[in-house]
Amino acid sequence: MQLYSMDSRDIQKIKEKFLKEISGTKKPDERKKVCKRYVEEELSSVFSSLKDLSGENKTSLGRAANELRQFILECLKEEKKEAIKEKEKIDVTLPGKITEAGSNHPITSLRGKCEEIFSKMGFAVVEGPELENEWYNFDALNFKEDHPVREMQDTLFVKQKERERLSSQEKLLMRTHTSPVQVRYMEKNDPPFRIIVPGRVFRNEATDSSHEINFYQLEGLMVGEKISVAHFKKVIGFFFRQLFEEEKISIRLRPSFFPFTEPSFEVDVSCSICSGKGCSVCSRTGWIEVMGAGMVHPNVLRSGKVDPGKFNGFAFGVGLDRIAMIQHKIDDIRLFYGGDLRFLKQF
Ligand code: DAH
Repeated sequence: MQLYSMDSRDIQKIKEKFLKEISGTKKPDERKKVCKRYVEEELSSVFSSLKDLSGENKTSLGRAANELRQFILECLKEEKKEAIKEKEKIDVTLPGKITEAGSNHPITSLRGKCEEIFSKMGFAVVEGPELENEWYNFDALNFKEDHPVREMQDTLFVKQKERERLSSQEKLLMRTHTSPVQVRYMEKNDPPFRIIVPGRVFRNEATDSSHEINFYQLEGLMVGEKISVAHFKKVIGFFFRQLFEEEKISIRLRPSFFPFTEPSFEVDVSCSICSGKGCSVCSRTGWIEVMGAGMVHPNVLRSGKVDPGKFNGFAFGVGLDRIAMIQHKIDDIRLFYGGDLRFLKQF
């Protein structure tokens, strides 16, 4: 190119060429390249030719070239902004990311189902503390002091300074059952009432396929005037028929002992798997032991400031883990607490 003969009209031509090229490109990236090429190559050769010029021509060409450079640099800035915008654009045609949804733990599902069934019968769902004191866990429930049952329950006592000098209200432990909530509730509410108390309990036990250091119970309590064992059988029969979705379930009570009930029973339901004929789940007996229960002991009513002369009631306690194991034919309780996704994903 014969640069010495250049004037500002040539700059105008470069500008037109530049604009034409720019409008021919489709992507911000390509446009950026065009801008750079014009600044770094085309214009820089114009600038280097200026030294051979003089006078008016040099000034006007220099000014025009500078203006074009400025113009292209502005375009470059705009293109950078465009490129950023382009990156932020969402491509709606791309396949979506699949997020894996979790599922409820079998114990959680069972607890929900129990709450639903008992709610239908007017039972309120109540909770209590897991860190309990000896009074609610034992004394208020008519466990005599030094009763071997306190040890039998494999209690996890909480280490406390000079513990032996504390009162039973001050001595802490991890609750061994949900029964203390019976008394906590009675203290604050006037009969009649019906409640269930689902919750976690703790035992200092060596773990094996049927024992865990913590597990879930569901406590029930109904207090009113002239409550009888017949009421209990009706309530519990409805519960198990709904839970196992089986109409033909029978209930059987066997005599038992709990300090907080008199009389006390062990409750069996006819095996829903073999319909009472005998299978491996019911150890060929046709019956499955599912809960402890009884008529609330007058001393327990007294602990809860309820007059045993006026009111009575029934209570029961059921192990949710055991029910879930029967329902899903799970042979090891530890599976519930192992957090193994291969197990959990099946529910
Ligand atoms: N608390 C008892 C346990 O953990 C279960 C139980 C038995 C609860 C009889 C009750 C009951 O309310 O009446 O073994």
